Amino acid sequence: MFAVLGEFQYLVLCLNDKINYMQTKIKLRKIKESDFKYFLKWWKDKGLIALTSGVFNYIPDEKLQKGFKYMVESKKDHHYAILVSEKKIIGHLALSHINKNKAEIQIVVGEKEYWGKGLGTLAIKKGVDEAFNRLGYKEIYLEVRPNNQRAIKAYQNVGFKRLGIKEYPSNPNLPKVLMMSVLKDKP
Ligand SMILES: CC(C)(COP(=O)(O)OP(=O)(O)OC[C@H]1O[C@@H](n2cnc3c(N)ncnc32)[C@H](O)[C@@H]1OP(=O)(O)O)[C@@H](O)C(=O)NCCC(=O)NCCS
Repeated sequence: MFAVLGEFQYLVLCLNDKINYMQTKIKLRKIKESDFKYFLKWWKDKGLIALTSGVFNYIPDEKLQKGFKYMVESKKDHHYAILVSEKKIIGHLALSHINKNKAEIQIVVGEKEYWGKGLGTLAIKKGVDEAFNRLGYKEIYLEVRPNNQRAIKAYQNVGFKRLGIKEYPSNPNLPKVLMMSVLKDKP
């Protein structure tokens, strides 16, 4: 009996070590102007566009760069580069201010070879911790394509719950979205 319990405790310890190790692997840092080249690549990736905005219109690089500068300088919204192994940039996480209690989260792991390794889940967790514990928000909201099962699962891993479907009849690129949210102080 004790031998079995011992093995079980050992497995739990190993699992905790693995989670701690993974968490230290992921870092969020504020974006800076020199990150633009990564964002430009992701913003032009049709596969990523299809999973996010759905807007395939051509936009000149100069205009995209202006938009990026605006994101870097924003005092209201918070944009982070997702880093692995301290300095490799793999994606973007945004916390957009809605009101003093509520922010909207968006994530793109732009480097697809990093998908499906639990890193998106860890980055979302870090973003939610940042929003609740450093920025003082009480609710984090998001919109996701209802068929984006990978993203929905990653959000659920961090505690997001489904709120319902919202229709965007005026936007042919995004006709409907699943709304989800997580509360700081769960009832
Ligand atoms: C969405 C995204 C951030 C998730 O990050 P990730 O590192 O790939 O995801 P994770 O490995 O942390 O978790 C994915 C989960 O989805 C599950 N999954 C993967 N493909 C799936 C599918 N087709 N159907 C159901 N579940 C799926 C995985 O098993 C995993 O669940 P688990 O932790 O219970 O095993 C990342 O894939 C991404 O940036 N995608 C493109 C942009 C995007 O869709 N952004 C979200 C827009 S709202």
